[in-house]
Amino acid sequence: MFALTDLRGVFLYGVSIIAFTFSSSSFYSHYGSTLINSTFKSLVAENPGDCNLKCFDEEGCMSINYDRENKKCELNNATKETHSTRLVRHARSIYATIKSPPVFPECKNYKLLTDASRHKSFYQDQQFCDWNLVPGWYRFSGEAGTMMMNECLPKYDRCGGGYLGWMDGTLPLYAHGIVERIACFYRAGNCCAMMVNIRVRNCGCFYVYELKKPPACNLRYCGE
Ligand SMILES: *[C@@H]1O[C@H](CO)[C@@H](O)[C@H](O)[C@H]1NC(C)=O
Repeated sequence: MFALTDLRGVFLYGVSIIAFTFSSSSFYSHYGSTLINSTFKSLVAENPGDCNLKCFDEEGCMSINYDRENKKCELNNATKETHSTRLVRHARSIYATIKSPPVFPECKNYKLLTDASRHKSFYQDQQFCDWNLVPGWYRFSGEAGTMMMNECLPKYDRCGGGYLGWMDGTLPLYAHGIVERIACFYRAGNCCAMMVNIRVRNCGCFYVYELKKPPACNLRYCGE
């Protein structure tokens, strides 16, 4: 599923400009134009907003051409600002320069988990736990790693916890929006001895996780 609930398309046909307003940013598109000689990837998208989101997930993507008739979404490595002569008339196409991805509230307002003892490689017979964790959005950073551990690590003396918490399932792309996942806690041969429902969002260059207080002490969310 794509996070299109945040996307409101304002179609102003006739004045040849289309504004898509995201929750906190917007971009302007040229209706009836296409940028030539700049497409490095071509795919199918349901609408211009969907095409725009696909651009966010592709490194080097700076603008898009969208053909409404065959739903073709072209990702470009140049813009009309950098290559003005490449913008040509094309009746069915919408061109849009991608400014910056919209910044969602949880990508701005999150708490950091930076403690080295939270990293999966941390080895010490010392037990912390997340019993006092305040529910909310968290980003793994610094010595804790860059994301929640994404594999079952069958150990009991790592990351400063008795039960090692890891996220089961794949990390979302930017275009996926907020996704639901399960944090599993390893204990005594069982990779998912206990579990907590969590949510995750790809913010573009990092992930944020909506975490709850685990149901017991010494359960700890591990980083990597
Ligand atoms: C941009 O894409 C075009 C078309 O695929 C390619 O020929 C060109 O080398 C690319 N330029 C850069 C700077 O990546």
